[in-house]
Amino acid sequence: MTRVRNFDTFDAMRVLVTGGAGYIGSHVVRALLEAGHAVVVIDDLSTGHRVLAERNGVALYEGDLGDRATLDRALPGCDAVVHVAGKALVPESVRDPGPYFRVNAEAGRALLEGMLAHGVRRVVFSSTCAVYGVPERLPIAEDAPTRPLSPYGASKLAFEHVLDAYGRAFGVLPLALRYFNVAGAHAKGDLGEWHDPETHLLPNVLRAAHGGDPLDLFGGDYPTRDGTAERDYIHVEDLARAHVVAVERLDDLGPLDRRHAGLALNLGRGRGATVLEVVRAVEDVTGRPVPRRERPRRPGDPAALVADPARAREVLGFQTRHDLRAMVESALRFMETSGRQHPGRSASA
Ligand SMILES: NC(=O)c1ccc[n+]([C@@H]2O[C@H](COP(=O)([O-])OP(=O)(O)OC[C@H]3O[C@@H](n4cnc5c(N)ncnc54)[C@H](O)[C@@H]3O)[C@@H](O)[C@H]2O)c1
Repeated sequence: MTRVRNFDTFDAMRVLVTGGAGYIGSHVVRALLEAGHAVVVIDDLSTGHRVLAERNGVALYEGDLGDRATLDRALPGCDAVVHVAGKALVPESVRDPGPYFRVNAEAGRALLEGMLAHGVRRVVFSSTCAVYGVPERLPIAEDAPTRPLSPYGASKLAFEHVLDAYGRAFGVLPLALRYFNVAGAHAKGDLGEWHDPETHLLPNVLRAAHGGDPLDLFGGDYPTRDGTAERDYIHVEDLARAHVVAVERLDDLGPLDRRHAGLALNLGRGRGATVLEVVRAVEDVTGRPVPRRERPRRPGDPAALVADPARAREVLGFQTRHDLRAMVESALRFMETSGRQHPGRSASA
């Protein structure tokens, strides 16, 4: 396909989004559709929800991302893949690492084989700041040491290495996007965070504010502004928009150094919020107190993880638009439209 190499005018592409029935994947699908691209989804619905694909009106190929028959149905005619599908629960990965390497690394490699068989070279991959482990300095740049603390982080880093090798050997054009803490929901209120169990902070703070279990506050003695752990929260709509730009510009990332650290970009806001700051933002937006229980630190939880977002700005021209309050407001809207205690479980779901 011939493309106009002007960043404002791209021919529409056909993009396969793996994990497109999940939280982040469904937002990436929506952003690609809004930018005029065609989208198909592979998802095994292990943690995703059919209704999130249905709400985007895209074809869902239900199956494992490493399954060749499923790939042979979904890949024909595709110009690019956004590979979001994966297993992402850190404690589960510590207890039972096998499935993490099978899905996050091995099935990902099978996806690349399928792509090569169908002549698809462009791939944008959902990586994570968990590849860095405990940072030596903040903010964290892409060339910081990668010393993951969990099998989850190790499996994501392993796949970055696979991408690098396939890029060199077979001309695959990969880009790994290392997400920091993704939060918020789509402005329309029909897509949002819907995990079971929910381990992410913002939905759990919102639930606590609405009569759910009190919030477990792990660690109050970190060397941060208020003693609670600091993370870099990025709005899921900002994050999704970065994928659209990445897919459209993948062929043009000439200046990007494609040595290992060169194919990764951090996606964060470059500013952190502590747990108590998130709690206060929820209390402000909802007008409700957030009951909480003090708990000891969790082993392996760094005091602070904040992205240096300079490289994504330089390479993709990417800048975030939404602040923490916007994340809270949109997550609350999703929760209200889909049921307070069980976000997403609406009558239509
Ligand atoms: N949510 C975050 O803050 C965050 C941060 C860093 C990285 N990430 C990465 O982003 C990705 C998406 O995270 P999410 O929060 O949307 O999770 P999610 O569980 O909502 O989405 C993952 C999707 O992948 C699908 N899936 C899982 N294994 C599959 C398989 N073998 N074959 C086909 N489909 C499969 C699931 O059914 C689900 O729809 C993950 O890869 C995760 O590692 C997320």
